[in-house]
Amino acid sequence: MLFEKFGLVNTQELFTDALEQHYAIGAFNFYNMETLNAVLNAAHDCHSPVILAVSESALDYMGGDTLMGMISGKKIKKSDGIVLHLDHGSSYESCVRAIKLGFSSVMIDASKLPFRENIKLSKRVANYAHKYNVSVEAELGVLGGFEDEKTNSKFNMYTNPDDVKEFIKKTNVDSLAIAIGTSHGAYKRKSQNEKLRFDILSEIAERIPTLPLVLHGASSIPQKFIREINSYGGNIKNALGISPKQLQQAISLNVCKINVDSDNRLAFTGAIRKSIFKNPSEFNPRKYLRNAQQAFYENCVNEIKNIMGSENKLK
Ligand code: G3H
Ligand code: 13P
Ligand code: ZN
Repeated sequence: MLFEKFGLVNTQELFTDALEQHYAIGAFNFYNMETLNAVLNAAHDCHSPVILAVSESALDYMGGDTLMGMISGKKIKKSDGIVLHLDHGSSYESCVRAIKLGFSSVMIDASKLPFRENIKLSKRVANYAHKYNVSVEAELGVLGGFEDEKTNSKFNMYTNPDDVKEFIKKTNVDSLAIAIGTSHGAYKRKSQNEKLRFDILSEIAERIPTLPLVLHGASSIPQKFIREINSYGGNIKNALGISPKQLQQAISLNVCKINVDSDNRLAFTGAIRKSIFKNPSEFNPRKYLRNAQQAFYENCVNEIKNIMGSENKLK
């Protein structure tokens, strides 16, 4: 299998262990050398498996060859438990492209399509990916944020527990992203008291108890990053995320993969703003990018230890 050449693993064994032991594996989005270093160093230092998530726009930004060159340069070993995952693959062709590059896991996000069409496309991707031992994540339900912009709906369309068993049986996908009130980006809630729909999650977990579940839009938006950005010239207002406590509750109900992008973007941006502000005559990008990498790394370490619970879970 191509991904084995890069020392990568698929999600199968990692999720089986996570499901059994009730922890989650962090899927951290990255988009350049510094953010790749940050995730890999955090995984290494925490002795934790990790999912390197690449969105389609991040893949275009880096370029497939550059990305795989960087991955290859990292000399990853199978025992490191590193997955390279396509985040929100929008088409069959996009998933095939990722698999041909050497990705070990893909998401086909057909959540905005009608149920039957979602099944058809997710199944087509699973049939292809499984020939190469690549894992497949699909999605049922629509999250707030950029997903509902595409569907023009203003609200979350929660996953219907009545649909999940049939969906999994017909598609044969390996994990399922669900909509229970999370949303992408930094503006997830009006108040910290808003609760995720744990009633829906419990019903889903009951109906498909052996299937690893995935939570997108799961950043907790630490307010220290917002304060840092705003005190060095930024202007971010009313940003609120999902509390670590609620994420831990979700993990206890079969959520095995938690997607985090916004938290790390905030950490990275805050560090750059601070560094540039405090050193006004400095113009060597390596200086502030090093600080940004460190802030991204520290946030990954914190989330691995205090949210995912995956520290020391490497076999
Ligand atoms: O869920 C999506 C991620 O936050 C990626 O966003 O397309 O801007 O890289 P992006
Ligand atoms: P956040 O915007 O909450 O970090 O979600 C990221 C995500 O779901 C990537 O797929
Ligand atoms: Zn997502």
